[in-house]
Amino acid sequence: MVNEVLKFLRCRSLAGNTVTAAQSKEQSTLEGDSDGNSELSVEPLIAPRADAVFVDGTLGTGGHTLAMLRTHPTCRVLAFDRDEVSMSFARQRLQEAGVVERVTFVKGDFRDAKELLQPYLEKQKVGSDGRAIEQIDGALIDAGMSLWQVTNPLHGLSFRSDAPLDMRYDRSQEISAFDLVNRLSTSDLEDLLFKFADERWARRIAEFIEAQRRRNPIHSTAELASLIEAAIPSGVRRQSRVHPATKTFAALRLAVNDEFWALDHGAWALSSVLAPAARLVVLTYSSNEDRTIKRTFRRLAERGIPIDLENQPRKKRKTEASSGKPRPSGPARPSLTFSLKMPGEDAERDSQIAAQFPGLGTTWKMKIVTKKPVEPSPEEVASNPLSRSCKLRAVEKCLL
Ligand SMILES: C[S@@+](CC[C@H](N)C(=O)[O-])C[C@H]1O[C@@H](n2cnc3c(N)ncnc32)[C@H](O)[C@@H]1O
Repeated sequence: MVNEVLKFLRCRSLAGNTVTAAQSKEQSTLEGDSDGNSELSVEPLIAPRADAVFVDGTLGTGGHTLAMLRTHPTCRVLAFDRDEVSMSFARQRLQEAGVVERVTFVKGDFRDAKELLQPYLEKQKVGSDGRAIEQIDGALIDAGMSLWQVTNPLHGLSFRSDAPLDMRYDRSQEISAFDLVNRLSTSDLEDLLFKFADERWARRIAEFIEAQRRRNPIHSTAELASLIEAAIPSGVRRQSRVHPATKTFAALRLAVNDEFWALDHGAWALSSVLAPAARLVVLTYSSNEDRTIKRTFRRLAERGIPIDLENQPRKKRKTEASSGKPRPSGPARPSLTFSLKMPGEDAERDSQIAAQFPGLGTTWKMKIVTKKPVEPSPEEVASNPLSRSCKLRAVEKCLL
């Protein structure tokens, strides 16, 4: 999806031009977009100004940053990542590619973009290549984890290799997958697997985990993966094309890193720092993440939220029945208090985030550029199977 990201990130106006909501709507109408919200044609977009600055909210191993720098030979990138090990890897790669002088590395969470970027924007701090940063011309969030992280045992993200059960991108964070697996109540564990990754065997997996952790804490990814295999009936396992631990590992990773709320909060924060007419592009890899960003974009565009985008607590459980095994006796693990509410289920957290960006609805708002998500072409999926579930959505800033 690198090419699509680059197309969508191109600015629609040059430096100094301000685009108001009315002008933006007028332009959309000219492009055949009667309600001002349909997908815009990508081709007529104007190339970024010579000293454009993009924010890559998720540097990873630097693939998108490198593509931005190569496509626009004078632009610069402010790159965030929560994972400093990954950031050092990317720095090395960008150094070898001869573009590192045009990158400013910021170890941090894209949710904190407003605070992290303030020193660069307000004080006109000079970048590492000697030029001041005037405005942010586009931003990208490529959600989740990188292939490099999955294959690096340090992170404990993969069920294919044995590693400590961790899953934190930022290892200074307190809660890891070990805490969730060993300290959540069985029913919270079941809810987590079901809600975050639609795991229909959530109840059985939670029960197997409970039985094991009463004997000994579960320390490793291999131990957890084999427990999950045991929990899912062999007939079901044989019919599935994916590893039985896929959904459980995804759910734990999403929870450990608070990824649904990070997406929501990050989209608010990055939108707030964009220049007029600049765009935020978001790539997600699961239906729950796509629903989250679709809902957030509607809030940023001050449009109503359809009922199907609100994560109402599910009344009827759809997980498979209990294994019926008696619970072994043994010491219960201390319970952990951990919110399993997703965006759409926690009005208080929604308002706390909104309160940090009072400009929305008074001085600016976002316009939805992609009515439907853009998906990878069959050729791209054939050459990169990991892109199969990728969805791209974009919004554009307009002044009121
Ligand atoms: C899918 S990878 C990005 C890959 C990157 N676009 C590339 O081309 O190499 C996602 C990256 O985002 C980082 N990440 C996840 N959540 C984050 C957050 N809230 N703030 C900053 N970085 C985050 C992860 O550590 C990971 O390195």
